Amino acid sequence: MDKLIIKGGRKLKGEVTVSGSKNASLPIFVATILAPGINQISNVPFLRDINTTIKVLDSLGACVEGNGNVVKIDSASIWNHEATYDLVKTMRASVLVLGPLLARFGRARVSLPGGCAIGARPINLHLKGLQALGAAIVLEHGYVEATCKRLKGTRINFDISTVGGTEHLMMAAATAKGETVLENAAREPEIVDLAQYLNRMGAQIEGAGTDTIHIQGVTELSAANYEVMPDRIEAGTFMIAAAMTGGDIRINGMKLEHLDALAFKMQDAGVEITSRDGVVRVKGPKRLRSVNIKTRPYPGFPTDMQAQFMAMMCVADGASVISENIFENRFMHVSELLRFGADIVIEGNTATVKGVRKLSGAPSMATDLRASASLILAGLAAEGTTEVTRIYHLDRGYESIEKKLAGLGADIVRVKE
Ligand code: EPZ
Repeated sequence: MDKLIIKGGRKLKGEVTVSGSKNASLPIFVATILAPGINQISNVPFLRDINTTIKVLDSLGACVEGNGNVVKIDSASIWNHEATYDLVKTMRASVLVLGPLLARFGRARVSLPGGCAIGARPINLHLKGLQALGAAIVLEHGYVEATCKRLKGTRINFDISTVGGTEHLMMAAATAKGETVLENAAREPEIVDLAQYLNRMGAQIEGAGTDTIHIQGVTELSAANYEVMPDRIEAGTFMIAAAMTGGDIRINGMKLEHLDALAFKMQDAGVEITSRDGVVRVKGPKRLRSVNIKTRPYPGFPTDMQAQFMAMMCVADGASVISENIFENRFMHVSELLRFGADIVIEGNTATVKGVRKLSGAPSMATDLRASASLILAGLAAEGTTEVTRIYHLDRGYESIEKKLAGLGADIVRVKE
C-alpha cells in the first residue's frame, strides 16, 4: 500500500487544474445502460471509483475502452442483469444500476450496498420510489430482485433530500409510461449534469437543480456523447489548501458558482476569493478567523467539504462550531486531527474546534475519502513531517492529488509502504 509524506509550512503558489467530477461521472456511466449504443464520455477523472464502475459495466456485458479522461462505453452488448456483492460492496453507487437494468430489461438483481465508514447509508427511498413506479421488489439473501414489464410514471415525494435517490429515479423514470414528478428532489449540480446527459440521450427532463423535477417518459433513448462537469469537491479542497497555508493560487476549470456556500464561509474566515475569465484566485490571510458551519443539502454547505473545513478551523483564531447534519458518522477525521495537536471536542453531531497557533506534523491514517483529504491539508499547514497511510481511500476520489499539490509548491511525495 502507498502512503504520503508531507513536509509542512510551505505557502502554496501557482496554478492547478481541476479534474472532472467523480460524483457526476458515476451516475452518467450507469445511465449508458438505458440504451444500446456507443457513448463517448469525456473529462472523466482517473480514479479508483471510475475503475470500479467500469468493472460493474463490464460484468453486465458492456464494452468499455479507456479508464479516464475519454471513456467509450458500448452498452449494446449488455446482457447480464445482475450486479454482484463483491462489486457493489466496493462502491455503493453501483446500486444505481438497478433502475436502468429494470427499465431496459424488465428485471434486475443487485446486491444491497451495505453501509460504509460514514454511515449506514440505506437505500430505502430508492426502492420505495421504484415500487411507486410499479416495480415488484423482493429482498433476499442480501440482494434486491426487481421486476416490471414497463415502469409507469407517478408522483414521488422524498422524505429527505437524497442525491442518489434522485439520480436513481430520474434514470428509471426516463423511459417509464407517462409523467413522473420528483418532489423534494436533491438539487446538487451533479444531478443537473446527469439530467443534461439523459436529455442528450433523448429523455425529457425539466427542473433538475430545483426541488421538483418533471420527467416525461419516452419510448426509447439512444447513446450520446458528453463532457462531465468539473469536480467541485476537489476544487474546494484546493481552495482550503491555499487558505490554510497562507498561499495564493489560481484554480483552472472549476465553477465557483457550484461552491457558493463554501466560498461565503471561507470569505467570512478572511480568505480572498476572486473569479475572472474562468480562473478562481484564492489568497489565504496571515491568520484565519473561526467560522461556524452546518452541513446541509445543496445549495447549503456540502457535507463532502466538512472534514476539509474542519482542518482549516484547527488553525483559525477563536472557536468554530461544526455540525454534520447529513451523515451520522462523519467525524472520523477528528481523532486523527487531534494527533496533530488540534483542539476539537465532539458532542453528538457537533464538533467545537478551538484554533491553535500551529499544528505539528504526525503519522496518521486515512479512514474515508474526505477524511484523508483533511489529514493532507493539516500536514500542509503543520510544522514538521506528516505521514498519511491507507491512501487507497484518497485514490477513490482525488486524481494524483500529490502531483497537483507538489505543482503548487507543496513538499509531498507518495512512497510504497
Ligand atoms: C452522494 O451520496 C455522494 N456520493 C456523497 O459523496 C455525498 O456525500 C452525498 O451524496 C450527499 O451529498 C455520490 O454521489 C457517489 P444521499 P448518496 O442519498 O447519494 C440518507 C463523496 O465523498 N438516505 O444524498 O449516497 C443517507 O443515509 C461521497 O464523494 C436514506 O436515509 O447520499 C444520508 O444520511 C460521500 N435513505 C442522507 O440521506 C435513502 O434511500 C443523504 O444521502 C437514501 C439516502
